[in-house]
Amino acid sequence: MNKNSLLSMRDLTKEDIMNILNDALLFDDCYRDWQLPLKKALVANLFFEASTRTHYSFESAELQLGCKVADVQTSVSSITKGETLYDTIRTLEEHGYDAFVIRHSEDEYYKQLEGVKVPILNAGDGKGDHPTQCLLDLLTMYQEFGTLEGLNVVICGDIAHSRVAASNKTALELLGSTVRFSGPKFWEREGYPIIDFDEAIKDADVVMMLRIQRERGAKLEAMSDSEYLETYGLSKARYARMKKNAIVMHPAPFNRNVEIDTDLVEAEKSRIFKQMANGVLVRKAVLKRAFGFAPFEVK
Ligand code: CP
Repeated sequence: MNKNSLLSMRDLTKEDIMNILNDALLFDDCYRDWQLPLKKALVANLFFEASTRTHYSFESAELQLGCKVADVQTSVSSITKGETLYDTIRTLEEHGYDAFVIRHSEDEYYKQLEGVKVPILNAGDGKGDHPTQCLLDLLTMYQEFGTLEGLNVVICGDIAHSRVAASNKTALELLGSTVRFSGPKFWEREGYPIIDFDEAIKDADVVMMLRIQRERGAKLEAMSDSEYLETYGLSKARYARMKKNAIVMHPAPFNRNVEIDTDLVEAEKSRIFKQMANGVLVRKAVLKRAFGFAPFEVK
């Protein structure tokens, strides 16, 4: 596997993470117009699962960096004729693509791609990891608090099916923050003990809500959407009990009035749309890294 691939947050050191976040910040400052100084940078995006944010923020990042982009139509590719993922990616590699961005429903799909020589950027694998989402989450927290050490983060909702919860647990614990989990007991995951949301919210710096992943089989056991909001969601009453400087995050897409009251999506403490803007900055930083460029020097 190419050493500049980004597959899981487990593969990154503290220094790697901070280098990516610093590059992302500089892409929003003195390196706004920076482009890859390469004659050829062909990137193929392959999304085998639905996506708006990850797909199109990667595409925006690629275009801003001067890459040429192929948006591979996976539903009409030869995968539908039985070709393996490995054979598809190896074929595209022979066609001259220099990097791949891949989202796939299978956990650790990238283990099938050991023989691929160009970098692979994981845009989400099943319930496994979502490293660029995690990095944009970290960037949002870092902008807010100026540190990623000593933060109290509570992640609430469908923990069982969430690659976002998994990536954030790995990274935030590495960086010295505390991560706790809340939500229905039937979505508890081994190693992610569920605690009471009302307790957790009182001293949380970050309240990160998660979507119910119905596409992965998550079901609300005999509970209406409004009952879910009242019991496990971010209601107005819970929002009012958050700490003064605490923030609300959500990887999105969000289900209004299910995991979050619709009026809170753009409330004062919400950083949900800020996260989306940060998605482009972080993806520019990981693409730059994938093409082998060292972290920026501050001008
Ligand atoms: N947060 C996230 O991954 O959103 P998309 O599914 O729209 O990419």
